[in-house]
Amino acid sequence: MRIGLLGSGVVGQALSSGYQRHGHETQIAGRGSFADVAGWAELVVLAVAGSAAEAVAAEVAAATAGKVLIDATNPLDHSSGAPRLFVGFDDSLGERVQRAAPETRVVKAYNIVGNGSMVDPQLPGGPPTMLICGEDDAAKATVTGLLESTGWEVADLGGIEASRYLEPMCLAWVLYGVRTGGWDHAFKLLR
Ligand SMILES: NC(=O)c1ccc[n+]([C@@H]2O[C@H](COP(=O)([O-])OP(=O)(O)OC[C@H]3O[C@@H](n4cnc5c(N)ncnc54)[C@H](OP(=O)(O)O)[C@@H]3O)[C@@H](O)[C@H]2O)c1
Repeated sequence: MRIGLLGSGVVGQALSSGYQRHGHETQIAGRGSFADVAGWAELVVLAVAGSAAEAVAAEVAAATAGKVLIDATNPLDHSSGAPRLFVGFDDSLGERVQRAAPETRVVKAYNIVGNGSMVDPQLPGGPPTMLICGEDDAAKATVTGLLESTGWEVADLGGIEASRYLEPMCLAWVLYGVRTGGWDHAFKLLR
């Protein structure tokens, strides 16, 4: 699959090299090339700073119409020192991204884990669970296939509104890392 990474930071780079190991073609986009790479790609991953996510989603809206866009972003606000979310409870960044690109099939994924574990997580407890959400079942099936082929179990929380509950989980993940000094943990849903 041709996968475009919108964002050249650590997440864009980790996903690009991880997907390449699995035989996918990738291109990383930075400022100035988001729309070009989104036009080339069959599937795109939004991996920019949360503060830029809506604007970049709007910028690629035409190029991603009808395509699957994985929203890996978190609405982090670092202005007060400790990270906080700049949206929550009755809205979320996932919903804002979907509204900014209404014809794009947005699936929230990857936001609850560190970049080092995004592809082929190797954890003693076995495969972790990626919690995902989005409006389009076929898009979620595509993302589930990509995740399952790269070392994940997947649990679908429903529509994109579930981003309201997924985005705070990133801070639970961060706080556990701060307390333990380790960054190779991930959530698992036991049934
Ligand atoms: N790091 C993780 O392990 C992790 C895990 C889960 C989710 N996330 C989320 O994934 C996203 C990317 O994280 P990251 O760690 O890869 O961040 P990062 O290394 O700081 O990279 C951020 C990217 O966003 C771009 N960007 C920032 N402001 C922009 C703007 N105004 N317009 C266009 N592009 C802009 C940067 O471009 P420039 O280089 O040109 O500034 C860069 O490509 C974030 O939303 C983060 O919360 C991160």
